[in-house]
Amino acid sequence: MRKKIIIANWKMHLNVSQSSILVHRLQERIEKHNNVDVVLAPSLLALQPLSLQIDRHKFKLAAQNCHWQDEGAFTGEVSATMLRDLAHFIIVGHSERRHIFGETDDEIAKKVAAVVRNGITPVLCIGETAAERKAGETKQVLHDQLSVGLKNLTADDVSRMVIAYEPVWAISTSHHGHHAEPHLVEQAVATIRHNIAELYGGETEGLLSVLYGGSVEPDTTKGYLEINGVDGLLVGGASLNYEQFSQIVAMAHDSAGGGEENHG
Ligand code: PGA
Repeated sequence: MRKKIIIANWKMHLNVSQSSILVHRLQERIEKHNNVDVVLAPSLLALQPLSLQIDRHKFKLAAQNCHWQDEGAFTGEVSATMLRDLAHFIIVGHSERRHIFGETDDEIAKKVAAVVRNGITPVLCIGETAAERKAGETKQVLHDQLSVGLKNLTADDVSRMVIAYEPVWAISTSHHGHHAEPHLVEQAVATIRHNIAELYGGETEGLLSVLYGGSVEPDTTKGYLEINGVDGLLVGGASLNYEQFSQIVAMAHDSAGGGEENHG
């Protein structure tokens, strides 16, 4: 069975001391789980101090972005090579990177390759906008984002990576009470898995982890975790609240079969 993965995407929130306080609170509430990877994606600045603070039996770290070159004259950028000893995962192609910073599928493909080359696990985010869904283009958009985003990888690389389905219209919408219906998520995840099987074979598809992200809260967690083919969640807003995030992790633990593990 694939391991459950719950990622906290803190985006551009929390300075170094605020990040440290949140980790302290999470560390008190979250148990050791061998069957769930709990991954924190703080600001780049907080990665290093948090790497010294976290209990490694409870948490792993992720970066929210990186450059596609290993080094060079790229003012303001940080490479996957520099993140090698700090992050287990790097989020690539988040919809905010695509839509606010204009990242293209080709740039995202180079970043995914850089992450793999540096021995880190990429979390490739894909998903359609509201307009694309309305126009009936969801399947095509997911296919294009996958086939271009993964074009530099082998089947073996893909089998060890993570894909997050994040419909752009369902990100940061929970304050409007707006969530993606689980049956729509199920259809999209089936499309993603079908594309991977066609491009890289059924064995790769069976090993690959697929997450859902977009306004996940404790109330909606169970419904998303029960979806066939979903291995975990990418949580934004609710991950900044230690009560909510610990509840989400506890539910993932239950769905992964429960049972506290003390020897991991
Ligand atoms: P949200 O963010 O949970 O606040 O919608 C999710 C994401 O953007 O990864």
